[in-house]
Amino acid sequence: MKQGVIILLVWVGWFALAARAQADDADAFGGANIGERLFLETRFAQFFFTNSAGDANAVLTNSDPVMDNTVTIYGPQPGPFAGQSMNCRACHLVEEHEGIGNRTYCDFARRSPVPEIGDGRVTTPRNALTLVDALLPRQVPLFLHHDGQFAAVDDLVVGTLTGRNYGWQPTEYEAAIHHIAHIIRDDDGSGFLAGQYGGSSYAEAFAGLAGIESQYLIPSKNRMNVLVTDTNSPNYVTDEQIVQNIAELMKDYMLTLVFSQDVAGNFDGSPYDAFLIKNGLPQQPDPGETQLQYGRRLLQLLAGLTNPQWVTDPDAGFFVTNAQGQQFQFGTNELAGLEIFLTDQSNLTVATNLQLQGVTTRIAVGNCITCHAPPTFTDSLFHNNGAAQAEYDQIHGAGAFMALAVPSWAERATNYDAYLPPTANHPNALGIFETPPTTNHPAQVDLGLWNVYANPDFPAPQAGLQSVLPQLLSVASPQIGRVTVVGTNLVLSATNVSTDWTYYLITSTNLLSPLANWTVVATNNFAGSGQLYFTNVLTANAPQQFYGLLLGNISPAAALPGTLALFKTPTVRDLVSSEPYLHTGQLDTIEDVLQFYINASAQARAGGIRNGDPQLSGIYLDASAVAPLAAFLRALNESEYVDAPCPCDPQPVPPPQ
Ligand code: HEC
Ligand code: HEC
Repeated sequence: MKQGVIILLVWVGWFALAARAQADDADAFGGANIGERLFLETRFAQFFFTNSAGDANAVLTNSDPVMDNTVTIYGPQPGPFAGQSMNCRACHLVEEHEGIGNRTYCDFARRSPVPEIGDGRVTTPRNALTLVDALLPRQVPLFLHHDGQFAAVDDLVVGTLTGRNYGWQPTEYEAAIHHIAHIIRDDDGSGFLAGQYGGSSYAEAFAGLAGIESQYLIPSKNRMNVLVTDTNSPNYVTDEQIVQNIAELMKDYMLTLVFSQDVAGNFDGSPYDAFLIKNGLPQQPDPGETQLQYGRRLLQLLAGLTNPQWVTDPDAGFFVTNAQGQQFQFGTNELAGLEIFLTDQSNLTVATNLQLQGVTTRIAVGNCITCHAPPTFTDSLFHNNGAAQAEYDQIHGAGAFMALAVPSWAERATNYDAYLPPTANHPNALGIFETPPTTNHPAQVDLGLWNVYANPDFPAPQAGLQSVLPQLLSVASPQIGRVTVVGTNLVLSATNVSTDWTYYLITSTNLLSPLANWTVVATNNFAGSGQLYFTNVLTANAPQQFYGLLLGNISPAAALPGTLALFKTPTVRDLVSSEPYLHTGQLDTIEDVLQFYINASAQARAGGIRNGDPQLSGIYLDASAVAPLAAFLRALNESEYVDAPCPCDPQPVPPPQ
């Protein structure tokens, strides 16, 4: 018997390529424009509902106290929307507090204050995320919020407008939808906000009436007549349709919130970007290249850079409204920091060469690239870098987080209300694992992704999470071990495997055929030792076959503990506009964050971080790395980030005639 068997190791499992829903209309600027108006609208909130006596155009005589001040780590500032009720902008600020700094659509609080409604909650569970670059295309599915609660922007908008941030309880969903639609239907355009956006009522704006200036004209797909009151009319639009339309328009707006890019999509606003441009270095991954691969290639290129061209202020640019007092520069210190940032275990030799060249003073392994790869400086996935544990242990003592009782998947499933966050299906759920820790309630903590993964009340993100589970759980790549022919069987063993997972043996006669066309010929059997065996019958005179190993599934029960305290990786661009840092909002400066990583990585190596990310242990830094890393991170500040760089920005209102 003659067999042409070629063994090939294929390790796949997450070729999930997520496409961002693009703003699909050429005239989307009008959508972005009214989207911004809706983003600023204060009347959708529950407070307005209870205090306006059903009058959509009421001027409130009492204001929601939460709006009086903007809470900041520098002390309270006068609230930009004082006298009104909640809107998106109150937590996603931009230029409202220039005196203390611009924001990349986040706020200055450790956790954002929410309206008081008597449920004991006074803030959001987490630090507000920045919206600039939040919706960029990515190589993984879209997940929103630190815990991935939302998988689509419009779901997030509807959930937010009808949720706790706007003062609504889970039982008030219908009331919220009806109220929001009522504001749109009955607005008369007399408000200050309407005046800033062309002066039309929402009904006129939604209808796309002739006479509206082009920059205010909404895309045809979003036009609707909200004034038809006869529910039997074919032109009647439901309350739900109106709120859905609001969500799409706000999405159009948020898609415009990006850091400065050239026409080819290269970032060009920071000293770091200027450095890449000046030295002819690639600014984004090649087609087919991952961000991680690109970042590693960049480090190689830096190592070969014999005569670096430095970026200096003001020749290359300068900081205007943002990062006042900072030099727009990229010099030796910033480069040393960049190299530490890009160095991981795979490219230590490059780092060694750099050291030999005298570029860096010592080898420091930032390993930052494994989660914050350029050019977006985030992998848009979830990791546990020890942030939740650090906050919890600070309150309850070292070792407390390690000892905290967390239910198994089965236990969690049988008692939703005791463990999981409140939703419309479970309005009385306590959400104890989505609550900031406090001295008096040691059972309360924020476990991030653990709340969402395999939670039946959050069906939308599950498919996406499933597709990235191998990355989230850092499952090792299986290796093909011994291959033997026993009688007429091919027997193949594999090592480096986890008994929690299923593996498949796949085969194809064409090495280049897409994965979907390969045939699964065997599912693994585990031997006692944790070794894996496949058996496949060989047929005489069959054509040459290629074999590969495919990672299969894991049960939710086995996977759940691996999601404990995972949070979404934020970008590290323009950190000057988003302090305080981490989902806990506990760290005020970049230096604080670097010290945090020095501590957390040492703790992780000692086995002291519960479910810590394996990459955390790969960070080797000491105090001497802090200054260059901080200089590099500051070189990611944007020179002039002020507001949506789009022609949809509202024009100054001419004075009344
Ligand atoms: C009371 C404060 C508050 C209000 C009001 C608010 N947000 Fe947020 N927003 C947050 C916080 C806090 C987060 C992070 C939530 C989390 O991770 O649990 C967030 C996250 C987000 C994100 C996810 C970003 C990402 O990268 O995952 C988007 C998008 C967003 N908000 C949009 C909006 C929109 C649109 C509105 C108005 C309809 C709004 N927000 C109103 C505080 C607020
Ligand atoms: C294992 C993945 C991982 C590695 C490695 C990693 N980070 Fe992070 N980083 C994260 C995650 C996840 C968060 C958010 C954690 C949270 O809030 O709970 C974060 C947060 C941050 C923040 C705060 C950003 C903000 O807006 O709050 C900074 C700054 C940061 N990381 C810098 C670095 C630097 C510098 C390195 C290298 C020394 C590094 N990170 C290594 C995953 C990682």
